[in-house]
Amino acid sequence: MGLKKIPRSLKICGIATIILIVILIAVILILFFTILKPKQPKITTQQVTFEGFRLFLNPFHLEFTLGLVVTVNNPNYGSFKYDNTTAYITYRGTPATEAPIEKDTIPARGKHDISTEVVVDVDNLVSNPYYAADYATGCLNFTSLTTFHGKAKVLRFLKLKATIHSACDISVYVQYQNSSAVCKSKVKY
Ligand SMILES: *[C@@H]1O[C@H](CO)[C@@H](O)[C@H](O)[C@H]1NC(C)=O
Ligand SMILES: *[C@@H]1O[C@H](CO)[C@@H](O)[C@H](O)[C@H]1NC(C)=O
Ligand SMILES: *[C@@H]1O[C@H](CO)[C@@H](O)[C@H](O)[C@H]1NC(C)=O
Repeated sequence: MGLKKIPRSLKICGIATIILIVILIAVILILFFTILKPKQPKITTQQVTFEGFRLFLNPFHLEFTLGLVVTVNNPNYGSFKYDNTTAYITYRGTPATEAPIEKDTIPARGKHDISTEVVVDVDNLVSNPYYAADYATGCLNFTSLTTFHGKAKVLRFLKLKATIHSACDISVYVQYQNSSAVCKSKVKY
């Protein structure tokens, strides 16, 4: 009788251990996929400023300044630190201008504003076959592409290399001297 009891309790103990391990693994997996799983940052446009055209006579050229402030919402439980980068602005496929963006850190579950100002030389645009027609409609559409290379902090001791691709569609309304922008982004680990 006494000999039979020991293997039975051992059996129960073994099953309990296995159940405990399974639960532990499940909890770790759930934690990883809910809390630690990297979420996409959201980029929203805060403001776009269009400072009108400036005409220079010697040498003759026309330019305008575009200011763009975007807010990056980092929904992750870790900060994102990015290196110096460049925003490339194109007009219907024609490179229009570029602007440097200095390195910074986007806090965990926080917001961060990135502002850039670019000077667009109209000479760069007029070579584009669509320019005259677009100018006549009063709306010039630009695309801004920026790649942020950096490190995302997942845990205090765990950092992942991350790249954020951000794209903004910028519309400049020439007749109203104002502009609007819509941005989207994607993060890759
Ligand atoms: C980042 O840009 C700033 C200012 O433009 C410059 O002083 C700094 O050396 C740059 N850092 C790197 C790592 O290139
Ligand atoms: C410029 O972009 C705006 C907003 O996305 C769009 O409504 C408009 O049709 C575009 N204009 C041209 C000429 O592509
Ligand atoms: C630009 O200005 C016009 C006229 O004042 C206004 O109707 C339009 O909503 C403005 N657009 C933006 C994006 O601010």
